Amino acid sequence: MASKRYLSGIQPSGLLHLGNYFGAIRNHLKHQDNAFYFIADYHALTSTREPEVLKANVRDVALTYLSLGLDPERAVLFRQSDVPEVTELTWLLMTTTGMGLLERAHSYKDKVAKGISPTMALFTYPVLMAADILAYDSDVVPVGKDQVQHLEMTRDMASSFNAVYGEVFKLPEFILGTPEPVPGLDGDKMSKSYGNTIPIFEKGKALKKLIMSVKTDSTPLEEPKNHETCNVFQLYSLFASPAEIEQMKANYAGGNYGYGHAKLALFEQMKAHFAPAHERRAELERRPELLDEILEAGAAKARAKAREVLGRARAACGLG
Ligand code: ADP
Ligand code: TRP
Repeated sequence: MASKRYLSGIQPSGLLHLGNYFGAIRNHLKHQDNAFYFIADYHALTSTREPEVLKANVRDVALTYLSLGLDPERAVLFRQSDVPEVTELTWLLMTTTGMGLLERAHSYKDKVAKGISPTMALFTYPVLMAADILAYDSDVVPVGKDQVQHLEMTRDMASSFNAVYGEVFKLPEFILGTPEPVPGLDGDKMSKSYGNTIPIFEKGKALKKLIMSVKTDSTPLEEPKNHETCNVFQLYSLFASPAEIEQMKANYAGGNYGYGHAKLALFEQMKAHFAPAHERRAELERRPELLDEILEAGAAKARAKAREVLGRARAACGLG
């Protein structure tokens, strides 16, 4: 039996951060064979309107994945917009998708509440996302918790289309990198749009300063502290081994251990964890043409698969 196809996308809308890493990217790196990972630049147009910024962000996402260990020989890495077939598939899916389904989307309402302009693209964002997933016969979509509703909507859209036209689309499953969203500097969900992130590639003094600014309560140094409600502890646990986590719990419970100590321990963990990725990134930055070659090769492979699935959908509808 062929191995399961993993697929996911990530928007190039700013520097990728620890929420993206533990929520999604770590799973992408774990499941590379037969996988498709793309940079969702069509989606980013719903929030980024500066062409040069978009281009720079696309390169940064590609560089981030390759530096973290994505192997383009095993996984297909590409730009969403290099496969325009997904926009046609979006149209076909829209013909069998009810308005009500999209009107219930939390993400649309949250984004409008935050001041993002309520364009048709923002409203139909989940249909493009469904097309992204269905165009490659994906089995498993590794994402963070905030994307679960979009995955449920994708299954609904695929089922509605299949109900009319027969079994054209495979219904995908999803997996989560962390059971709950990774907290940001202020304790809210870490997100580019909240300005509370720790970027994966931050380093040195700037990284230390960011980590020192993680919000904690005002329990005095001598007193025992509650690890369960502490943002620093939560971030530390993402990096540390089970034994180190137990030790940190004991430090919190014992008193005479300040948040400053815990923050330094988090800083050291993060530094060590990403040291090899920093090295690879420096190498890749010396060879900018390699990035273009990898994205072009990825686009060709992705496009071939999307054409096949789009052909199936077109034929089912009676087009062409
Ligand atoms: P952001 O909220 O920073 O704009 P994206 O929406 O681009 O992040 O998310 C890219 C991927 O990272 C998605 O799969 C998303 O679910 C995941 N993700 C983003 N933030 C977090 C977080 N704080 N915790 C866990 N996963 C996250
Ligand atoms: N909406 C996703 C996010 O903001 C990005 C995305 C676009 C995606 N298309 C996708 C994720 C397909 C998984 C599968 O994070």
